[in-house]
Amino acid sequence: MIKKVAILANGGDVSGFNAVIRAIVKTAEQNNVECYGFIEGYRGLLNNEYVKLDSYNTASGILHKGGSIIGSSTNSNVFNYKVEENGQVVYKDLSDKCVQNIKDDGFDCLFTLGGDGTQKSARDFSLKGINVIGVPKTIDNDVACTEITFGYNTAVSVATDALDRLHTTGETHHRIMVLEVMGRYAGWIALESAISGGADIALIPEIPYDINKAVEKINERIAKGKSFSIVVVAEGAAPKDGILAIENTRDNGKGVDNTKLGGAGQRVAKELEALTGLESRNTTLGYMQRGGTPTAFDRVLSTKYGAKAMELALEGKFGTLAVIKNGKLDSVSLEDVVGNNKVIGAVSGNTAESNIRKVTMDHDLVKTARDIGICLGD
Ligand code: F6P
Repeated sequence: MIKKVAILANGGDVSGFNAVIRAIVKTAEQNNVECYGFIEGYRGLLNNEYVKLDSYNTASGILHKGGSIIGSSTNSNVFNYKVEENGQVVYKDLSDKCVQNIKDDGFDCLFTLGGDGTQKSARDFSLKGINVIGVPKTIDNDVACTEITFGYNTAVSVATDALDRLHTTGETHHRIMVLEVMGRYAGWIALESAISGGADIALIPEIPYDINKAVEKINERIAKGKSFSIVVVAEGAAPKDGILAIENTRDNGKGVDNTKLGGAGQRVAKELEALTGLESRNTTLGYMQRGGTPTAFDRVLSTKYGAKAMELALEGKFGTLAVIKNGKLDSVSLEDVVGNNKVIGAVSGNTAESNIRKVTMDHDLVKTARDIGICLGD
């Protein structure tokens, strides 16, 4: 019997965080379970800072709101936490303190809303005996074992709107319009928005590109009377034999992705201008993709995920992640989600061990893009 549960939202924010929180709270209330929310993800768990959540007060009127009413933290791997001691930066495993907090406060289950890093820590807490249930969040859509994460659809929708706007200005001025979208090391946002936004070229991390292929596509369009072209570039796209475009490297602790990607779109725009002689302009969409109102699709997906997560808790199916499999709500073991990233506290993100879901060449989106003549840079 579970009586008291806690939610934490972790990693970069997405539209839909609040919708998941609301659904967990509402499902909990239907089953006489008390709900709390840790403030700013795993950091709140470490500092034992939490608030009571109830659907008539603290968690009321939040379905459509962006951000997270309980905050979120992007730099809190508590298994390898950055602390200052005697003026020195050191990294410490503070997970036992978190375990103690959960036990002292009597939480029967912890819901972890987050991406690959968050679910890696969730699995590590599960090995330490904590009842954990994950919910897959990220605009990047790169969490393993699920077909879709909440927040992704809103990001694609924002990118689509941007592409519609770039179309009219590009057409007016006979320019190449480049849109750099997020997605980290996966090309989902770029590929899907290229299709929904009618782009001519989409460059994604999974296909190292040859810029000459993009030039060929643009010249082909010019020959057929189209003096403008639309190019979507994933922030993680890189040329064949080239390197990732990195804006900066930071120190947010160990076991978190310290690489801030940026500049891939500008690099492509400059090269295309030089090689085609057409004026090119880059727009970096950035955090617009994460903020604001979730789409109707994301509100429903988030609500399904939240309700399913609470259901799993009521059934005692801990150590799992709520997922969409073959289009239906389901669950998988967090062990499957971390894959070969087995070591407790090990790093997530762009590492050999990390188990992120990338675009595969047999995916419908790749096939459809190729069928309609979108150039993928290969
Ligand atoms: O993972 C979500 C995401 O928005 C990525 O698409 C992007 O690369 C990264 O986070 C940006 O991170 P930060 O919020 O730390 O700048």
